[in-house]
Parts: sequence; C-alpha cells; structure tokens
Amino acid sequence: MLTLRLGNPDQFAAVRDYLVRAGYTEQAVCRKLGVDGLHECFKQLLDCAARLQTAAPSTLKVLVQLLIAGKSLPRAEVARAIPRAALDAMNALGILSAHSAHSRHIVSAVALYPVQRLFFASERWNATSSPDEATDHVFSAVNPLTHEFLELLPQDPCNKFLDLCSGTAIAALLAAKLYARHSWAVDIASRATRFGEFNRRLNAVENATVTRGDLYQPVKGMKFDRIVAHTPYAPSLKRRPLYAHGGLDGELITRAIIQGLPRHLAPGGRFYCLAANVEREGEPYEQRVRQFLGARQSDFDIVYIDAKTQGPLQFAYRATRHAKGTWDDMDKWVEHFEKLKIKNLVYGLLIVQSRNSKGASFTVRRKKAENGAIAEAEWLRTWESAWADPTRREQILALRPLASQGAELHVVHARQNSGLSPSKFTLTSNHPFTVKYECSAWVAALFERCDGKFTALEYFETGKREGWIPGDLSAPEFSTSLGELVARGLLEVEGFQPPRPKTLKPQSP
Ligand SMILES: C[S@@+](CC[C@H](N)C(=O)[O-])C[C@H]1O[C@@H](n2cnc3c(N)ncnc32)[C@H](O)[C@@H]1O
Repeated sequence: MLTLRLGNPDQFAAVRDYLVRAGYTEQAVCRKLGVDGLHECFKQLLDCAARLQTAAPSTLKVLVQLLIAGKSLPRAEVARAIPRAALDAMNALGILSAHSAHSRHIVSAVALYPVQRLFFASERWNATSSPDEATDHVFSAVNPLTHEFLELLPQDPCNKFLDLCSGTAIAALLAAKLYARHSWAVDIASRATRFGEFNRRLNAVENATVTRGDLYQPVKGMKFDRIVAHTPYAPSLKRRPLYAHGGLDGELITRAIIQGLPRHLAPGGRFYCLAANVEREGEPYEQRVRQFLGARQSDFDIVYIDAKTQGPLQFAYRATRHAKGTWDDMDKWVEHFEKLKIKNLVYGLLIVQSRNSKGASFTVRRKKAENGAIAEAEWLRTWESAWADPTRREQILALRPLASQGAELHVVHARQNSGLSPSKFTLTSNHPFTVKYECSAWVAALFERCDGKFTALEYFETGKREGWIPGDLSAPEFSTSLGELVARGLLEVEGFQPPRPKTLKPQSP
C-alpha cells in the first residue's frame, strides 16, 4: 500500500529545507557509503549499509540508515537527529511511520535520496522487497540503468521536454531544473505518477507537469522539441511488471513511441531512447526504425549507437538462468525467437532527429566505444547533419585531414606469384566508436599520409600525380570517402574533432 501523501507546500518545504541544511547531498551520501555514485550501491545496498555501522554516529548516518538502507531505528535516536518540525512533516507526508503499531522504532515507507541537486522518493530497495512481484513497482531513480539513461541525455537548452515512461519523473525534473523551459512526465502507472508528483512537489519544480496515461495520450496534440524515453523492453513470454514488459519482442512500447514521433516531435526536435530491440534477417534495427516512422520517414535522421548485441540463444540462456529456469524454458525462448524470425537482440541509444536542414535524411549506426558516452553520439549527429548538406563535400577539400590518434591501419599480405602482396586493408579505432573499416588500397595510402599539413585537395592532386590514387576517381568520390573516414573518427578535420576520450577514473588509494 502506498502511504505517500501529497500534503501541502509547507510540509514539502520543511522536509526539503531540512535535508539541505543537514547536508544530505549526493556527494556526502556517497562518501558515507564508500561509493562513487548511488547507482553503485543499488545491487549491494546491504554491503554498503553494513559499512555504515562502523562509522561514527551523525545526522547523515541516521538519514542514510533510515531513508536509503531502510533500517528501522529507535524513535529516540531519530528524534535526536531530526528536528521536530522536519520529523512532523516527514510523518505527515507518509515518508516515515512507526515500524508497527505501538512500536518504539521508526522506519521509512519509501527510499528517499539525493540525485544531482534534487531529492527523489521511490520504492525502498533492500533484501526483503521483491520488485518482480508487484506489477506497478516504481523504478528506482538510482537504478544503474536509469543512471546510464540520464548520462545519455544531452543538456543543451530546450523549450518543451517530454519524458515518456517517466517512473519517478527523474529525467523530466532534472531537465526542468537544469535546461528545459517546461517538462512533462508521463507514466501509465498511477503509483509511478504519484511518486513523480511527490518528487515534483518535494523539489518545488514549478516548470514541470507530471501526468498519468498511455504514452502520448495525456499530451495529445502537443509538439515537443525534446522527447526522451527509458522504456520497458524485456521480451516477455508472460505478463511482466509494467516497468519491464516489452511485449513478445520487447519492442511494444518503444515501437509505439517511435510511431508517434511524426505527430509529436517539433521541426528540429530530437528523441533519445535507451532500450533493447530486435533485428530480423536483413533488417538492421536502424532500418526498422525508419519503417516505424511511416510515410514521413524522410523527414527524420536516425543515429543508433549499439552498446550490446546478442544472439537469441545467448539471450535465452541468460534469461533462463536469471529466472532459475529449466532446459525446457530455454527451448521455449528459442522457439519463440525462431517464430518471430529474430536474428539479434540489440541494446543501445537511439536518436531520432526531425530535420530542419538541407540535404537528404541520414541513417547511421556505430558500435559504442568502451568509455563512449553522449558526447560521441552528439558529435556524430552534428557531423552527419552538416555532411548532409551537399556543399560540404566541396568544402572538405579545403580542410587539412589528420589521421586520428589511436586509429590503426592493419594490412593483410597474401601470397601472389612469387611473393607476398598487400591484399586487405582495415582501419580500426576504439574512439569515438569501436570501428573496423575495410578500405581500398588508395584509402589506406591516404590515411598513412594524413598529417594535417596539407589540404585534402593537395592530397588528391598529389595522389593522382604519384599514382596512389586511381586515375578515374573523381573529386566528389574522393570527398565522399574522406567524409566516411571522418564520420568513423579515423580522420580528423578542423572544426569537427571528436570529443577527447574520457580518462579512466584514478584508482582510490
Ligand atoms: C524502465 S522504467 C523507467 C522509469 C524511468 N524513466 C527511469 O529511467 O527510471 C519504465 C516505466 O515505463 C512505464 N510504462 C510502461 N508502459 C507505459 C505506457 N504504455 N505509457 C507510459 N508509461 C509506461 C512503467 O510504469 C515504468 O515506470
């Protein structure tokens, strides 16, 4: 039963002001729990909480034990740490309650934690709560998957922001606080909507609307310049909780959202979605996205960053093992995927952009680099958007290409007549994407020479004169190849350098 109450503004202000005064920040809490981010302790909350036991008592320790670890604490201890007014407000809003009738212990009814500069309430998570049982379990705002989703959202300013499948409304509330003029959060579950509205009031976010409904239904007729979604995407043989149920192929919700984009994405607007999807023989995911967009598909650009691809058998094995199933259960999965003609299950970031620029629409896909993030995906989208303008193909000839640091040329030598000759050329890179690009001999020769000192046109003319560029290769063909190397991060040109690779975290002593 949900005890959270939507109370009044004074009660929310009393809780919020107290938490701020108590220094209940993400940084302080993480330090206390010995983690770099709260998402890190999501799976091992009890381990982290156990570490707390040894720390000296403090207000922060009480708050973490009560509101994150879900520990029941003696009423007197809580009263010593939390001032009366804040405690009363927490009780009035249904955040805290007596452990049981007449109990001298207090427990929190929900988890309540800081994320970035806001506070979020969601279901308590600990060893005794089993989310799989409840169909309307509210997805935690510090679930590692939510953390990954939030990290993938660009924060450039936008006007109207829509968060579909919003759970705790975390994406919508952070957007409203940081970069959106107004945001809307939509979730089908009344429980999630209540948590979302509670979180909106707790943080006094006036420029956000939390509403309940099936995808676009509550925002019918409206257009947005940013739409984001972290959808339920588990392929499901039987009904799963709302936060996970993606229908037979996992795409039920994501597909419906993409189908609605032509109606709801404003010109120049963008859609960002983190989800798992499927590929059928000869139908890569990004091409299927084009089909979902329907008659107006040429009005949209598509960027897909594949983070993980697995075969049906691999998925079947993992799903069965996770559910502690039998070989028969695994066979059911395999038959299921065969019937749907599914070749691969992919997981990654989809960006759909409503065009408002010159040139033909584009569809690109890359494999995510190990430490790649949104900056790389946005760099690719920006490059492709500019490259779609045909005048760019002439302009690139005036730029000075430079072979990217970290890009490598691999040459296979095969036996021919009496000796070995180079027969296969592959350019590889691990940044900004994981790339393996087979190319012709002249492209390899160009890559070898690109040191940023000469313009592309100078290389073209020299190559023709010296014979390492085929005599019949035209300047537009040369530019096109150059553009393909830049788009894969193998060559760099002025004004379009990819973001520098993120450095690895220094090891803590
Ligand atoms: C994986 S959770 C993500 C929650 C939140 N966006 C996050 O990242 O923490 C998916 C959410 O989608 C909601 N949902 C499922 N079907 C929906 C639908 N048809 N319309 C709106 N929301 C839906 C579920 O209730 C759940 O809260």
